[in-house]
Amino acid sequence: MRNVISNISKIVKNTKFNEVIAPYTYFKIGGCVKALTIPQDDLELKKLLEFLEEHSQSFFVLGAGTNLLVSDRGYNGVVIKLGKEFDFIDVEENRLRVGALTMLSDLLSRSLAESLSGLEYSWGIPGTVGGAIKMNAGAWEFSFSQLVQSIVGYKSDGTKVKYHPHAGDWDYRVFHPILITVFTEAELEFKEADPDEMGKLVSEVQAYRRGTQPLEYPSAGCVFKNPENISAGELIDKMGFKGTCIGGAQISTKHANFIINTGNARAEEVLQLIELIQEKAWKEHSIKLETEIIKLGVF
Ligand code: EPU
Repeated sequence: MRNVISNISKIVKNTKFNEVIAPYTYFKIGGCVKALTIPQDDLELKKLLEFLEEHSQSFFVLGAGTNLLVSDRGYNGVVIKLGKEFDFIDVEENRLRVGALTMLSDLLSRSLAESLSGLEYSWGIPGTVGGAIKMNAGAWEFSFSQLVQSIVGYKSDGTKVKYHPHAGDWDYRVFHPILITVFTEAELEFKEADPDEMGKLVSEVQAYRRGTQPLEYPSAGCVFKNPENISAGELIDKMGFKGTCIGGAQISTKHANFIINTGNARAEEVLQLIELIQEKAWKEHSIKLETEIIKLGVF
């Protein structure tokens, strides 16, 4: 089995074995993965997927690792991270063709420079275009789905596909279709707008987020999805959890739906805080809090 995995480096040169994944995540948490492989272009990615399929190897596609909690014991599989060629923005009037590795922050800067409106509310959402598709990233009335015209990517057997999503494919923080395993690019449609108005809105979003979210600490953004009728942050705050620590993990004193890594937090400690919150929300309010962050590995 070890031999099979070691063959990945013959397909994708930029492959590291037994790599600690913590530095690749926003939480800065997580143990070793069998291999971290970074295909540099479409051809390497296609061959890699064909190889993994042929050898029944499980894999996980990593974006910027912003919504992710990896187990302290790591993940017994292959982690695929797209190489630099998948980080691009091509502008054609109000349509942008963007690579899946492109950071939302870069896309926002470019759209502002081109006076193209649509992403202003995303200021402060860390992550890649690929991650934003998968999670239907959003804030306030904005969700990424509003911009997406088409998605290009690969099926797990290495077949390339182009997909035009429809309204039913998207939900709150979810993109349903599982046809495409690895997103490589998307075509987004923006609206032309007044750059001063756009700049004003971005400044407001910036001020609000800086004032209400602990952006200065490693975290994975909001831990729980908002349940119906109340913000998860408000509920957790009302239950008196702000500031609660287990080891190096703390429920933020600034926004109760964030768990921050104050130094050397372990995944186990984050998970204990999550369970503590879920138990109390269920016992005292009959609310089932569902996590927004993705867990990877065995907990
Ligand atoms: N609130 C509290 N205590 C807290 C946190 C919030 O009382 O500790 C109250 C606020 O005062 C406000 C209400 O709860 O009245 C809503 O708070 P906020 O505006 O911060 O919005 P949210 O519902 O907690 C959502 C998203 C965030 C996004 C913000 C701003 C979810 C789960 N959260 O938070 O998204 O940044 O709106 O648009 O949808 C994320 O997805 O990772 C994320 C952080």
